[in-house]
Amino acid sequence: MNKLLVGGIALMGTAFTSCAGTATETDLRKEDSKVLVVYYSATGTTEKVAKEIADATGGTLFEIIPEQEYTAADLDWHDGNSRSSLEMNDMSSRPEIRNGKLNLDSIETIFIGYPIWWDQAPRVVNTFIDNNDLKGKKVITFCTSGGSSIDGSTATLRQTYPELDIVQGACLNRKSKSEIESWIKELNIN
Ligand SMILES: Cc1cc2nc3c(=O)[nH]c(=O)nc-3n(C[C@H](O)[C@H](O)[C@H](O)COP(=O)(O)O)c2cc1C
Repeated sequence: MNKLLVGGIALMGTAFTSCAGTATETDLRKEDSKVLVVYYSATGTTEKVAKEIADATGGTLFEIIPEQEYTAADLDWHDGNSRSSLEMNDMSSRPEIRNGKLNLDSIETIFIGYPIWWDQAPRVVNTFIDNNDLKGKKVITFCTSGGSSIDGSTATLRQTYPELDIVQGACLNRKSKSEIESWIKELNIN
């Protein structure tokens, strides 16, 4: 697999969950929004894109926060024994996250975004999906990567959760705000 350098480390923003010890359903503040933008981001790149999607859709932003945050050593893909390597080699790995179960009653569309790790979504994304009931919602994937496409990660999520309506979104590497807005218009979700 073509491993590329982790994309530029963007400044970590202040997603509303960042300061919360445990995010719960009460964190879904935009109660009338039908769109939820869930993301995991280890180094800030996916977070930036997630914020742009939330802005463009008026959706609620929700950050998946690992119980134990990933250190640089954890993210070292050159090390076959690093935490990320071990987790990604184990399809059943489900690292704990701080977020509790969300009340998704009012939500119709869920964007779910992540960095590509070994062509896949990081396992904390599975933890989030396992912890929540996404049945009946449209789930749209998006990612950032060093060059890999979103295809492998979406295919695996579909295989793992055949009961869910998972729509393959896009890898939004280096996309401008207006490109992201056009992509969302094409999805025709409203
Ligand atoms: C453990 C690990 C594995 C990765 N594997 C891939 C990969 O298979 N293909 C790829 O294009 N990029 C890979 N990358 C690069 C990230 O997908 C990319 O830098 C991403 O934009 C980081 O997003 P983030 O800042 O939101 O964490 C990997 C990065 C890490 C840390």
